[in-house]
Amino acid sequence: MSLTMTDSDFEKMKSLIYEKSGIHFSESNRPILESRLKERLKIANHDNISDYYKLITRDEEEMKILLDSVTTNLTRFFRNTAHMQAFEYYIIPEIVEYKKKIRDNTIKIWSAGCSTGEEPYTLAMILSEILPSGFNFSIVASDLSLKSLMTAKTGFYPDSRITGVPDKYLARYFEKTSGGYQIIDNIKKNIKFDYHNLKFDSGLKNLDIIFCRNVLIYFDDVAQESVVNRFWSSLGGHAYLVIGHSESLFGMKTNFKFHKTDWATFYIKMTD
Ligand SMILES: C[S@@+](CC[C@H](N)C(=O)[O-])C[C@H]1O[C@@H](n2cnc3c(N)ncnc32)[C@H](O)[C@@H]1O
Repeated sequence: MSLTMTDSDFEKMKSLIYEKSGIHFSESNRPILESRLKERLKIANHDNISDYYKLITRDEEEMKILLDSVTTNLTRFFRNTAHMQAFEYYIIPEIVEYKKKIRDNTIKIWSAGCSTGEEPYTLAMILSEILPSGFNFSIVASDLSLKSLMTAKTGFYPDSRITGVPDKYLARYFEKTSGGYQIIDNIKKNIKFDYHNLKFDSGLKNLDIIFCRNVLIYFDDVAQESVVNRFWSSLGGHAYLVIGHSESLFGMKTNFKFHKTDWATFYIKMTD
């Protein structure tokens, strides 16, 4: 099917997607939007964008499916070793010390924009290795891609997706099955996967760490700043925010403090 997206169609679609999710389509990624729309129109049996636009403005489910189809879900286990080292050797030891002082033994983490689950599972595996006895953790992992969340919840990954997992972790936290690897229940039980659109408040409070890597990059400055300020409200008074290595809070009105370690950089909220 040939699809013609006029300038006015593009403006309408891009504004609606931005309003619903914060995802910003610039002129240079217009072809991506065009090709995803083409697929959706075919499936939804529409042959022009105006009719499809009317459909998504009244049908919330189709809007969700469209948002899912325009996201980029690329991820992998142990993505960005430096971040994982900073988590293991700096952030967690710091939080454990703080929690001992306030007599709280649960570390609360949010993996925001978790895609197919590799990021929260990586965090859970590292925590299972290093947390001192008496401590436990809970992870909320969220995304607006329902397709990705389904994979995440299943916790099954084909052989090709396992690259980068150290052998020790593969042996302890996965079960080999035909064609791939299954995350064991002992890891899964600590993670709650949920649909959440970062355009809105999550209601989460008093978290110790938020990982939101390679997500802000899809938002414009205004949307990024409001997401980051909502993260501030979701964190407790002694907490950490890790964003992607090509992302930054530079130029934003925020109270987060930039922090550099031997491994990686991230942001700190210290009000306690
Ligand atoms: C490139 S993946 C990053 C996955 C993982 N954080 C990592 O760094 O490997 C970006 C994810 O952000 C999600 N995303 C984009 N916009 C979002 C929004 N408004 N609310 C929630 N998730 C969103 C996408 O669905 C996608 O799964």
